[in-house]
Amino acid sequence: MYHKGYVVLFVIAILVVVLTPLILANSGRGFEDIRNYLEKPKGDRCVESKEYMIANHMEVLNEWREMAIREGKRIYFSKTYGVLYNGSIEECFKCHTYKEFCEKCHEFSGVHMYCLTCHTPPE
Ligand code: HEC
Ligand code: HEC
Ligand code: HEC
Repeated sequence: MYHKGYVVLFVIAILVVVLTPLILANSGRGFEDIRNYLEKPKGDRCVESKEYMIANHMEVLNEWREMAIREGKRIYFSKTYGVLYNGSIEECFKCHTYKEFCEKCHEFSGVHMYCLTCHTPPE
């Protein structure tokens, strides 16, 4: 005798197993694509590893902001490379052009960076 509940659960389990890799592959691909069209940054490395920056660059900026405003400190120690950087949003624009790098990816991802009402990136 079939139990309806088990049949439904079984169908859901099958759907999850079949669909998850498809969904993951597609969402990942869009992000890969846009990264091929971004301007190549200056220098040979970022302030942290590339993987870390892709996932956490907003956290890095937040940390810098907190440091500057709460402690008046504008020095950042890179955990990946063990060197010091200026803890300032302008530091990013030494190596990245805002329009050709940050903005391109944000537009694609639908991110609105409200920071620019106060911080002006150089042309
Ligand atoms: C309402 C205006 C305003 C907005 C919006 C704003 N900031 Fe700031 N930010 C400031 C001010 C004022 C300081 C302090 C500047 C100083 O002490 O010279 C500061 C300092 C900073 C600093 C450290 C100092 C420096 O030179 O960079 C960072 C990093 C920073 N903000 C990042 C951000 C980021 C990232 C965002 C968006 C998520 C953002 N801010 C949004 C006004 C703003
Ligand atoms: C000294 C130059 C330099 C500075 C300063 C710098 N970057 Fe980078 N950044 C790079 C380089 C070079 C890469 C590519 C690294 C690689 O390919 O391994 C990169 C990669 C990145 C990536 C990943 C891009 C991708 O491939 O998807 C992001 C996001 C990023 N940086 C954001 C920032 C932010 C935000 C700041 C400021 C907090 C910053 N960077 C400061 C040079 C820099
Ligand atoms: C490869 C794509 C990519 C690049 C390049 C990139 N970003 Fe982002 N950024 C994102 C995504 C995606 C988010 C939203 C992430 C989230 O909400 O978790 C984001 C979020 C942010 C936020 C937080 C915005 C908010 O309002 O919460 C800031 C600040 C930011 N990025 C700054 C920068 C700066 C500065 C650069 C260039 C130096 C840059 N990003 C380059 C993809 C990128």
